[in-house]
Amino acid sequence: MKDDSERLQSVKGMYDLLPPDSLRLREVERIGHEVLRRYGYVEVRTPVVEYTTLFSRSIGDATDIVEKEMYTFTDRDERSITMRPEGTAGAVRAYVEHAIHKADPVSRWYYLGPMFRHERWQRGRYRQFHQLGVEVFGVADPGADAEVMALVVDLARAFGLEELELKVNTLGCAECRPAYRAGLVAFLEPRRELLCEDCQRRFGHNPLRVLDCKQERCRALSLEAPSPVEHACEGCAAHWQGVLADLRALEVACEVDARLVRGLDYYSRTTFELVSHGGQLGSQNTLAGGGRYDGLVGQLGGPPTPAVGFAMGLERLLLALPEDRPALASLAQVVFVTRGEPARRAALPMVQALRSRGIAVELDHRGMSVKSQMKRADRVGCSVVVLVGEDELQREVVTVRRMATSTQEEVPVVELAARIDGLLRTS
Ligand code: HAM
Repeated sequence: MKDDSERLQSVKGMYDLLPPDSLRLREVERIGHEVLRRYGYVEVRTPVVEYTTLFSRSIGDATDIVEKEMYTFTDRDERSITMRPEGTAGAVRAYVEHAIHKADPVSRWYYLGPMFRHERWQRGRYRQFHQLGVEVFGVADPGADAEVMALVVDLARAFGLEELELKVNTLGCAECRPAYRAGLVAFLEPRRELLCEDCQRRFGHNPLRVLDCKQERCRALSLEAPSPVEHACEGCAAHWQGVLADLRALEVACEVDARLVRGLDYYSRTTFELVSHGGQLGSQNTLAGGGRYDGLVGQLGGPPTPAVGFAMGLERLLLALPEDRPALASLAQVVFVTRGEPARRAALPMVQALRSRGIAVELDHRGMSVKSQMKRADRVGCSVVVLVGEDELQREVVTVRRMATSTQEEVPVVELAARIDGLLRTS
């Protein structure tokens, strides 16, 4: 067993979220909550660990995630525990455990939090990452599929992304997928030697994965392979047409991609991915993925309940966003610059008065020179600096400097809070 504990570094593939990225992530989360509110979704928080069987029974034993990417350990009660690699399984477990369907036939849930996968890490692919995910339970109609796709595009736009592509596909259902699978196997079997090593290995248990293999030789083959839409049963074909019609009505542009097969076993009918062509994403440019999973709630012991959802990777989102990082990590709108210890102490009640009005304020306690404090104010990018000196204090005034215009004025201490409030409102 390798022991890296002496080196005091973060676990490989995991990273520290430091300012200014932590601030950018918080802003992303804030916008996320707001957009989700507009669609009527409510937040759920499930534990970051679950019993291992939950994931093998939902994501699927033969998937990459369950086969080789899970962080699994035995706890002190000798139970096998896994750090969640995704959020759908836990959401479904909670939905079933609390018999949510009894209280409400339709639930629109979302969640936000860290997920863990022992993947080969690179830019945009980490071993701990954050997902914002949604799950809609209880709606079998194609309207729900189109709604969550409109939501994923809306979220990405609200975050400031533009070069987006929504890819959609249908994988059929328990009725028509076996025939499709058989057709695909019949097509691939005589060409098996031409597949990459990975696909040759998974061909037996998961032939659909060949379709979205990134290796050139598999891609070339999959272009000629039969597509799931051609094999869709009547119900799946009608559902598919309904999804496309709703997307048109919602004015959500999409690209039908018959090769879009997702790496989790629970999907039926619609699958989709949102790809970004901007920013510094490189090859890991899939921002979000999702689809319908009508069988999963029943499979995990609940009543048969249709469901559809997606999850968006927040680290990828940050990489896709244009670079607009503030020079230094502070949210201060106002910085106090004080000359001497008595002035610092006298500033304390003023600082608190501003904070109680909801204004973000920073003040140096280290006795730095006025020049250094001004430099810091510049780097922070605050809107207003309040200069407090002993002489002015004797006259019960302070100097308020507007950074944008480099103009300043003396303001009586008693009027300070109202004056700054006004300045911030107009800046
Ligand atoms: P997924 O495609 O495995 O789907 O993950 C969704 C998104 O999470 C990806 O598109 C990507 O942005 C991000 N992601 C995945 N793995 C990593 C990683 N190692 N590092 C950084 N970001 C990553 C699911 O997880 C499903 N539960 C989605 C879903 C919800 N389907 C229905 N409901």
